[in-house]
Amino acid sequence: MYSLSNKIAVVTGAGRGIGQAIAELFAEAGAKVAVVSRTESNSQKVATAINARFPDAARAYAVDISDTTATVAMGQQVLADFGKVDILVNNAGVTRDGLALRMSEADWDLVLDTNLKGAFNAVKAFQRSLLKQSGARIINISSVVGLSGAAGQINYAASKAGLIGFTKSLAREFAGRGVTANAIAPGFIDTDMTDVLSADFKQNVKGKIPLERFGRVQDIAHASLFLASAEAGYITGQVLTVDGGLVM
Ligand SMILES: NC(=O)c1ccc[n+]([C@@H]2O[C@H](COP(=O)([O-])OP(=O)(O)OC[C@H]3O[C@@H](n4cnc5c(N)ncnc54)[C@H](O)[C@@H]3O)[C@@H](O)[C@H]2O)c1
Repeated sequence: MYSLSNKIAVVTGAGRGIGQAIAELFAEAGAKVAVVSRTESNSQKVATAINARFPDAARAYAVDISDTTATVAMGQQVLADFGKVDILVNNAGVTRDGLALRMSEADWDLVLDTNLKGAFNAVKAFQRSLLKQSGARIINISSVVGLSGAAGQINYAASKAGLIGFTKSLAREFAGRGVTANAIAPGFIDTDMTDVLSADFKQNVKGKIPLERFGRVQDIAHASLFLASAEAGYITGQVLTVDGGLVM
């Protein structure tokens, strides 16, 4: 397995789902992990479970990532606790689906503010530390919907497509300091986020996935571990699609 020993990683939206799996795998690979989530009880639960397996590997933080001031304050606390950050995974995300004709301004703002501005806020909070570490990594969890679009998801697709442009621009800005920035575009992954989809919809989607199944959170965690590793040091500005072949 790739090693992250001596690395400090921040994973947003790590209170459950994909972020939880990334935080757990990074700890298994030897990193110390800041488990960041909106809900304190969730980040605490994940950090406690990680520490039971890997003593002192995790600390919990609660913040609404769309709040710039609060996120910068959380960043200061993480840096005070760990001293540095080598890896930032921007994973926190929400959906508020609806057709364009009916979408409210509130639903547009919530999704863009969380998924896209939240990543900007976290980069603001940690960029100085990341730029000081040799081989630092930024990984943004986008979506295949950011590549293909999806009816009923103009807000979500715009946020995830925006994350791709954000990633490529950061990759160009930070390359001179040896910091890479990449995006992962998951397809349909079994989590609370996709649990709400109807059985008919899921069946229809599965029929379009060449590998004939939804992904598992570990599929995204392993892709993240690879991009976070020293071995991925010559990869930057890329979008790694992890979707069973849905979008090619
Ligand atoms: N599940 C999928 O099929 C899928 C597909 C493509 C992309 N993604 C993306 O992967 C990421 C994780 O998704 P998931 O399926 O694990 O979802 P999830 O709903 O299970 O988890 C999302 C996490 O983000 C956190 N979060 C949400 N809003 C936040 C905020 N304002 N501040 C801080 N944290 C906040 C939640 O607390 C939660 O821990 C998201 O960015 C999502 O868009 C998921």
